[in-house]
Formats: sequence, structure tokens, C-alpha cells
Amino acid sequence: MIQIAIDGPASSGKSTVAKIIAEKLNFLYVDTGAMYRALTYYCLEKKINLNDEESVMKLLNQMNYEVKVVEEKLHYFVDQQDVSEQIRKPDVAKNVSKVASYPKIRKYLTELQQEIARKNNVVMDGRDIGTVVLPQANFKFFLTATPEVRANRRFKENQNKGISSDLSEIIQAIKKRDEIDSHRKIAPLIPANDAILVDSSNMTIEQVVTNLINRIQG
Ligand code: C5P
Repeated sequence: MIQIAIDGPASSGKSTVAKIIAEKLNFLYVDTGAMYRALTYYCLEKKINLNDEESVMKLLNQMNYEVKVVEEKLHYFVDQQDVSEQIRKPDVAKNVSKVASYPKIRKYLTELQQEIARKNNVVMDGRDIGTVVLPQANFKFFLTATPEVRANRRFKENQNKGISSDLSEIIQAIKKRDEIDSHRKIAPLIPANDAILVDSSNMTIEQVVTNLINRIQG
């Protein structure tokens, strides 16, 4: 099986790029952030104490998580409930890094991600794919951009969706999430030694995709 790992900080364009590359290569796209987000959303909905790893783990053991294609778009389900929109909301973004810092949660989801990659050619995006989940990946990329550029992209995305937001709040939220993700003990956000670094601050999505595809196809 062929494995392509794309890691990077919040809103670095990983998922957009990973989705396009997966489509071009006819590989399975795996959004590992969506798994941590779905669990976080479900904890909030079920009023689980996010400070208690055991309670969060209990819910993870019980919940059923599925990804399905609905009208040509990926949709995420927990216990048959479509949570695709909910998992992108600010309260989930604000709490997900806490949930993702728990060792038992990471072990469970890492094994799930590895199992998917054993059975499929994958483009997988996340924070620790090149370092922990798929250290033997055929290709590893680490996508970055300055926090300001990333926040601006998110701000414009919100505008296009008709959601009003505050740019300085987005910058703060992004920096905070990166800070927690980069400094946790297990599987922190760092480039693998053999990852190709791509700074997309001054690149369009198309340029990033072309850059990665050229490297993959040699
Ligand atoms: O990629 P996305 O922004 O959706 O990820 C949401 C959060 O999930 C990250 O901020 C991080 O805390 C966590 N995550 C992780 N490991 C991954 C993917 C995501 O810890 N492989």
C-alpha cells in the first residue's frame, strides 16, 4: 500500500490539499483531525467532563464513528448522527486539543488510522502522521504558513459561508491550538526528520498541489 502523510498546524490548508491529491491519485483521503473533533463534539453533546480522560475514553469505546460520501462530499457520523458541520464549530476547535492530548485516546485512534492505511492507499492528514502513525510513509509533507496567513484564510472561508467572525480572535485561537498541539508530551506537532517542508504563505492551493504531486510522481 502507498502512504502519503501530510502534517501541519491548524488551518494550514492540509485537508484541502490532501483531498485534491487523494482524488487525483484515486487514493483514500483520511482526515484524522475529524476523528478527534467528532469525539470532542460528542463529549460536549453528552456533557462528558473533558478533564477526565477515563470518561472520554469510555465514550470513545462506545461510540460508532463512520465516514460516508453524501452527494460527492465526505460526511462524518457518530452513532448515525451527521456531525460534519458541528465538528467545525469554534467550541469543538477550542476543546479538541485537550481531548487529543490524552495518551489512551491517541493510542486508540492511532491504531484505527494504521489499520485503515494497511488496507488502502491513503493520503492522511493530521499532526503526527509522519512521525507516529505512519513513520514508514512513502511520502511525508509538512505544510506551514504564518498564523496571520492561516487566520486570514479561515476568515475568508467564514465570510464565504456567511459566518461572521473576528480576525484577531481567529489568530489567537489558532496560536493557542498550535501551542497545545506542539507542546504535548505524546505525538506533538513537529515535522518528521524526513518530511518535505512546504511553506504555503505565498502560494495558492493549486501551487501547493502541483508542488506535492510533482514530488510524488517524481
Ligand atoms: O486538523 P484539524 O485542525 O481538524 O485537527 C483538530 C485537532 O485534532 C488538532 O488541533 C489536534 O489537537 C488534533 N489532532 C491531533 N493529531 C492528529 C490530527 C488532529 O492531535 N493526527
